Amino acid sequence: MGEVNHAVLGEKAVAPPEDFRRQARIRSMAEYESQYRRALDDPEGFWREQAKLLDWFEVPKAICEWEIPHAKWFVGGKLNVSYNCVDRHIEKRGGKTAILWESEDGRTLPISYRDLHGRVCRFANVLRSLGVSAGDTVAVYLPMIPELAVTLLACARLGAVHSVVFGGFSSVALADRIRDCGAKVLVTADGGYRRGKIVPLKATADHALESCPAVRSVVVVRRTGEPVRWDDGRDLWFHEVDSRAASDCPAAPFDSEHPLYILYTSGTTGKPKGVLHSSAGYLLQCAWSMQMVFDLREDDVYWCTADIGWVTGHSYIVYGPLANGATVVMYEGAPDHPAKDRFWQLVEKHRVTILYTSPTAIRAFMAWGNEWVERHDVTSLRLLGSVGEPINPAAWRWYSEVIGRGRCPIVDTWWQTETGSILVSPLPGATPTKAGSATLPLPGIVPRVVNLKGEPTEPGETGYLVIERPWPSMLRTIYGDDERFRRDYWNRIPGVYFTGDAAQRDGDGYFWVLGRVDDVIKVAGHRLSTMEIESALVSHEAIAEAAVVAKPDEIKGEAVVAFVTLRASATASPELREQIADHVTATIGSIARPAEVRFAQSLPKTRSGKIMRRLLRELAQKGSVTGDVTSLEDLAALEQLARTKGIDES
Ligand code: WT7
Repeated sequence: MGEVNHAVLGEKAVAPPEDFRRQARIRSMAEYESQYRRALDDPEGFWREQAKLLDWFEVPKAICEWEIPHAKWFVGGKLNVSYNCVDRHIEKRGGKTAILWESEDGRTLPISYRDLHGRVCRFANVLRSLGVSAGDTVAVYLPMIPELAVTLLACARLGAVHSVVFGGFSSVALADRIRDCGAKVLVTADGGYRRGKIVPLKATADHALESCPAVRSVVVVRRTGEPVRWDDGRDLWFHEVDSRAASDCPAAPFDSEHPLYILYTSGTTGKPKGVLHSSAGYLLQCAWSMQMVFDLREDDVYWCTADIGWVTGHSYIVYGPLANGATVVMYEGAPDHPAKDRFWQLVEKHRVTILYTSPTAIRAFMAWGNEWVERHDVTSLRLLGSVGEPINPAAWRWYSEVIGRGRCPIVDTWWQTETGSILVSPLPGATPTKAGSATLPLPGIVPRVVNLKGEPTEPGETGYLVIERPWPSMLRTIYGDDERFRRDYWNRIPGVYFTGDAAQRDGDGYFWVLGRVDDVIKVAGHRLSTMEIESALVSHEAIAEAAVVAKPDEIKGEAVVAFVTLRASATASPELREQIADHVTATIGSIARPAEVRFAQSLPKTRSGKIMRRLLRELAQKGSVTGDVTSLEDLAALEQLARTKGIDES
């Protein structure tokens, strides 16, 4: 912290393309600034006005009750989230495609709002028949198939709380999450497809459930048709129970603050946090930001490439788009299957107009070469979005030129699992953009860059990104751990929400988010905790001590490097290195698999015994110090060196 970044200060802003601007919802900075000012001066009036975007059974009496760190939004209001995402569209656009699902092998299944309504009602009745009622938690471990969206909406219809676990997580990680959220029902599939191979979800779930005795029913979608183990007293085929279910299921009203979902994300400790979101504020801000940031229109074909296992999929595949009656593309598989032009082929096939993806994906496309894009007509695109990690200017420019052909604005959207929806982003028809900056906050959002005392930093000086006021889609707590909620987000710098990100502002007040300041690392945009990986490592019998750091990766942004010391009984070898990496995959999932495992004689420590991560980070970034990959690195020398240079810190 403290050093001034001159590059950031020099970047010139580029105005939105004129054709786009002319037809946009918000067409000038003056319009943006007046909305921003309005929200700043009269937040309650501003959000009361936006709340008209939703259909209410009872309109809210109060807009916001705020007692740090607990917010209540739209108090006294009653609504049904699934009614807002499905039922209310039937009259005006019942035949319109809600979900345009594409399988990895190229099959298309359009689901209209009317169809979706039938599916959601039937599955809600199935869940109810399994004893699920308002406030109960349903765990969801599914591939990217329509039943995933249907399950979420069916839960919301009943006021049940869903907790989706990304299909790439291992059985241990799944079991931890199921136990923590207290689910009694799990919805999964026999398997999923990834690059033509089968991901055996049911087998992984079976293994997880051995340590989750509370789960009494498992609904299994048949996707692959492969044989699976079956527990007659517990397991039910989705298609069987669904076909027997009644297709009417009235949407009951729930309080604005009724919980909607728990989604686990990594923090600084070994234990993932269950981020709890509630109904009205969350849905409203997702729906509203869809219009502001994606300039959504009735005829758009909108594609967010995230997995619904992450918050991006919750907010911008399911809730935001469907609340707006949009057509959303949902793709089952990988970007390079069957070939590296899969995305562009899909854009061409469905005439996609808005594409929302990650910097990691963009960097991979760049590396694969323009010829994959050039094979297809991608001129249907009118707007491009980026999310998940800072986008480097080279990737931003490639995205703009090769995919957007200079005609499409780019919205670099900053937000988090905890924030629920996009907080900092250009408005595509108004905000001049700078490659690599998420630009300015949406109306109603008051972010600052400050030092630890809460004082604003100078332009170009690094500080902590914080948010000053509550916003409707903010997390309500960490499930079952109010204390951690307070500690992690509200006590670091008193009075403001602590994002955990480092950032700078430039002379125009633009925000440049630089990355995490805590022990959270971002691999391919996925959030991982170094502590979580370390505890997975030390649970391996050969390992005495472990320290995990990130090193930069050209495509994935960051990669995991693990330094380990071995127990006396173990011997370093290339095989052991693989076994250790496999062990992390088995304990967390392949997303956490270390790119490098390095054996050390000892780990460099401070006098008080703290591991000197900064040294390890430097070492990881410089690469290997020894040619022989199996030999034990002697890091004591490093420690000595650091001490003589006076770097005695973590
Ligand atoms: C962290 C949140 C937001 C949904 C997907 C990730 C980083 C996210 C940006 C961006 C720079 C970004 C931050 C943030 N991040 N978007 N546009 N520019 N950094 O959600 O897993 O909760 O991660 O992702 O570090 O804190 P998440």
